[in-house]
Amino acid sequence: MAGRIPQSFINDLLQRVDIVEVIGARVGLKKAGRNYKACCPFHEEKTPSFNVSPERGFYKCFGCGVAGTALTFLMEYEHLELVEAVEALARVVGVEVPRDGGRPRRRADEELYVLLRQSAGLYRLALGQHPESGRAREYLKGRGLTGEVARDFGIGYAPPGWGYIREALGTNDGTNEAATRKLTEAGVLARSDNGRAYDRLRDRIVFPIRDTRGRVVGFGGRVLPGEGEDQGPKYLNSPETPVFHKARELYGLYEARRTPGRRLERLIVVEGYMDVVALAQQGIENAVATLGTAVGRDHLEKLFRNVPEVVCCFDGDTAGREAAWRALEVGLSSLDEGRRLKFVFLPDGEDPDTLVRSAGRAAFEKLVDAAVPAGDYLVERLSAGLDLASMDDRAVFGESARPLLARIPPGVHRQVLIERIARQIGVSPGTLDSSDVPPSEPVATRSAPPAPRAGSGESRLGERLLGDLLRTPVLYRSLPAPVSDALLDAAREDSLFPRVAREVAGDPDVEPAVLLARFSRHPGYETLCALAATPSELSAEDVANGFPEGVQRYVRARSGADRRKLLDGSRDQLNRYWHAKQESMQLERAREAQSANAADH
Ligand code: UTP
Ligand code: MN
Repeated sequence: MAGRIPQSFINDLLQRVDIVEVIGARVGLKKAGRNYKACCPFHEEKTPSFNVSPERGFYKCFGCGVAGTALTFLMEYEHLELVEAVEALARVVGVEVPRDGGRPRRRADEELYVLLRQSAGLYRLALGQHPESGRAREYLKGRGLTGEVARDFGIGYAPPGWGYIREALGTNDGTNEAATRKLTEAGVLARSDNGRAYDRLRDRIVFPIRDTRGRVVGFGGRVLPGEGEDQGPKYLNSPETPVFHKARELYGLYEARRTPGRRLERLIVVEGYMDVVALAQQGIENAVATLGTAVGRDHLEKLFRNVPEVVCCFDGDTAGREAAWRALEVGLSSLDEGRRLKFVFLPDGEDPDTLVRSAGRAAFEKLVDAAVPAGDYLVERLSAGLDLASMDDRAVFGESARPLLARIPPGVHRQVLIERIARQIGVSPGTLDSSDVPPSEPVATRSAPPAPRAGSGESRLGERLLGDLLRTPVLYRSLPAPVSDALLDAAREDSLFPRVAREVAGDPDVEPAVLLARFSRHPGYETLCALAATPSELSAEDVANGFPEGVQRYVRARSGADRRKLLDGSRDQLNRYWHAKQESMQLERAREAQSANAADH
């Protein structure tokens, strides 16, 4: 890819393009005075509340609130990335897109993407045509998948043997060592101790993992049942590579976002590849899965960038329920105004795949509609097994809730929950609200933390890091998970750097100009523009090298008092009560849903 598109070109383009022409080509517009109207393409409605103003070059829906320019319209409506949308607009106007002379963007990665795409194509081909592929097709059919859904997800087959991909794209005689090395870097090939490269996936069903731009970034491979079932784990996933980061990717997100014009309202997080695919097979096309890892901050931020409601629906076993609690703990700090995090607890032994196949789509959807909001889950779990008539138990409840409440960003969510728990245990809300407790001093320093400079609510270090991040958002990728988590946790404070980091967490490949534009209504916008426009005194390389350590210092200086571990001992006990109770409740719910479903037919 060439250099960056200059922001001035984008501004010019928006001046020149006729927004009515762009939107009118995709949505039926009716003239209404100086403006145009339509039924909003981003939400269901019968009377038109979607307005386009040709003078201002702007659209806005008074129903669902979407708004923007011809550029954002194309990005949203056709799910285009900024660059693609700019190119589309430039074609409308008939101009060439200029590029800054800047360094080409990560050309090394481009090669990986090409090889991954070619590998995915070869696996797909093998599922249809390889002489050994019959078993794989039978297996998928046995799990209820049609060819159509297999095609939508690009499912393939890695034939037995060590060299299907190696021979096709690399080489076995050392003549094409460069490609072999790249394939190894992409995780498609692995190396034996003596340095010989071989296919990582053999005799497995292959699920290509795509990023939100639809680029294949890795693979998951499931063993086939039967004689050959000795080849290691049930699922074998690509390792971390320069283009594949498990803490950030979600299987199925690309597919869920793909339908043009459909606005997603909710995403369902499940545990497995097969859950995502089985739900899609039943017409539930908004499920995503993490890739054999727990749900983390970056996952949730990415999800909430796409939808206001995230529903976690994990397996009905102990591991699934522990995963749900972990997701709650991690998710509390993402609970901004307008965001909803909910949980579905499946009956023991079920996963979304088995449940949707046995109970059907309608029953499954009812379960999801009846999901437990994060606040209820928190209260139920922490108070399970406690006797709230006892003063001691009320104290236990309050103390265990307090550190969790402190993670929720200030706002209605937090206030309501604090008041509810305060009422239950008979204390004033202030007792539970630690927001007014200033962050403790860093242990090792005696002097006061650096005074924030006017305007940004940010220390000097924070401002420097913020400038670096604004100019080069992809630096975010270099942060190790504990550091980025701590940084995102600070986002509820009144400082700009963590806020911007959170925006980047959902999309580290964001163009700097787009990132900045997302803050155009933020009170700190001018400060951000000024920081973004001030080049660093250091070379790009020094900035990149210093960034992770700088952020580490930054978060260390402001992390709050030790998270209360007071109750960890008794927590296990509480967990067990909770499970027992939850199980019976959920079984009941599933039964209700099932009988309601039967009644529908
Ligand atoms: P599960 O063991 O719940 O499998 O793993 P599943 O999704 O129900 O698979 P089926 O129905 O037997 O085909 C859930 C997820 O955990 C990861 C995978 O991402 C899987 O989809 N996993 C599981 C691994 O990465 N490796 C394993 O060996 C097992
Ligand atoms: Mn399963």
